[in-house]
Amino acid sequence: MSADIAQAFTARRVLITGGLGFIGANLARRLAAAGAHLTLVDSLIPEYGGNLFNIAGIEDRVRVNISDVRDEHSMCALVPGHDYLFNLAGQTSHLDSMTDPYTDLEINCRAQLAILEACRKHNPGIKVVYASTRQIYGKPDHLPVDEKHLLRPVDVNGINKMAGEWYHILYNNVYGIRGCALRLTNTYGPRMRVKDARQTFLGVWIRLAVEGKPFEVWGGSQLRDFTYVDDAVEALLLAAAAPSADGGVFNVGGGPPLSLEALAQLLVEVNGAGDYRVCAFPPERKQIDIGDYYADDRLLRQTLGWQPRVTLADGLARTLAFYREHLPHYL
Ligand SMILES: NC(=O)c1ccc[n+]([C@@H]2O[C@H](COP(=O)([O-])OP(=O)(O)OC[C@H]3O[C@@H](n4cnc5c(N)ncnc54)[C@H](O)[C@@H]3O)[C@@H](O)[C@H]2O)c1
Repeated sequence: MSADIAQAFTARRVLITGGLGFIGANLARRLAAAGAHLTLVDSLIPEYGGNLFNIAGIEDRVRVNISDVRDEHSMCALVPGHDYLFNLAGQTSHLDSMTDPYTDLEINCRAQLAILEACRKHNPGIKVVYASTRQIYGKPDHLPVDEKHLLRPVDVNGINKMAGEWYHILYNNVYGIRGCALRLTNTYGPRMRVKDARQTFLGVWIRLAVEGKPFEVWGGSQLRDFTYVDDAVEALLLAAAAPSADGGVFNVGGGPPLSLEALAQLLVEVNGAGDYRVCAFPPERKQIDIGDYYADDRLLRQTLGWQPRVTLADGLARTLAFYREHLPHYL
C-alpha cells in the first residue's frame, strides 16, 4: 500500500474501545504492524462480537484490558496517557435494542458520555474518533443519503447511537476535546461476527456459505452499500490523523449499491457454490428495517482523501477464505 496512513501512528499511544471486536481488532492489527502502543478495552460480553482470536498473532504487541465502558472508574484510569481514542465499543444489535432498550441506552448513550467525561477530566488533549452508524438516518427520504439528511432513527439503537455521536461533537465544540464521527454502513470482512443474524445478515450468510448450507434472504430487493473492513479502518485512521476532521461527521460508503438478492448471487458466485432462498421479512425485523440505503460519502473523500480500495467481489473472496480457515473460532 502506498503511503500507509498507519505509519502516522508509529510509537503513538492508542486506546481502542471494543478492541477485540470486528472493526476494532482489524484496526488494532493495522496499528500494531505500524508500531503503535496499543491498549484494547473490551468487555467480551458473549453475545457481542468480541473474540480473543481476533488478535491472534499480535497478542505480544497489545495490552488488553477486559473491562466495561459502562464502568466510569475503569475509563478514568484507562484514558490518561493516550494520544488517540478510537471509540468503537457498542451494542450493535438493532433487534436487541428493542427487546432490551436499557442495555443499549447504558452502552451506546450513557457510557459514551462517561468516556468523554473521562477525557475532559483526565486527558483533554486526546483525539477521539467515534464509530457511528447509518442507522441514525432511519428510512431515507432520498438516495444517496448525505450528512445533511434528517436524522430520524427507526429503532432504539439508532436513537442511542445518534446521541452518542452528538456527545462527541458537543465535547469537541464546547470543551475542545477533538473528536469526529464516522457513520459506517454495512461493514464486512475477516473477524466479523458470523454466529447468527443478531448483528448482520451478511455474517450468517458467509458462515452458511462456508458450511455448504443454504441461507435466507429476507426481502431481497433492498439496495445497500458495503464497506470492506480495511477500507473502514483506513477511514478511521484518516479521521484520527486529520485536524480537518475535528467536529465533523462523515458518511463512509463503499462501492456501487446493489440489492440484497444481487449480493446473495455474488456471494454464491465468489464462493464457487451455495444456495439461498428469498423469503419474507420476519415481522419484528420488518418494523425496524430502513429499506433502501446507500451513502453519499463525497465529504469523506473530499475532506480526508479517502477512497475504497477493495471491490465487493474481492472483499467477499477474502472473507470467505478467512472463514474457511478459521470458522471454528467464530462459532
Ligand atoms: N459492522 C458494521 O457494519 C457497523 C456499521 C455501523 C456502525 N458500526 C459501529 O462500529 C462499532 C464496532 O462494531 P463492530 O462491527 O466491530 O461490532 P463488534 O460487536 O464486533 O465490536 C464491538 C465490540 O465492543 C465490545 N463491547 C460492547 N459493549 C461493550 C462494553 N459495554 N464495554 C466494553 N466493550 C464492549 C464488544 O465486546 C465487541 O468486541 C460499533 O460501535 C458499531 O455500532 C458497525
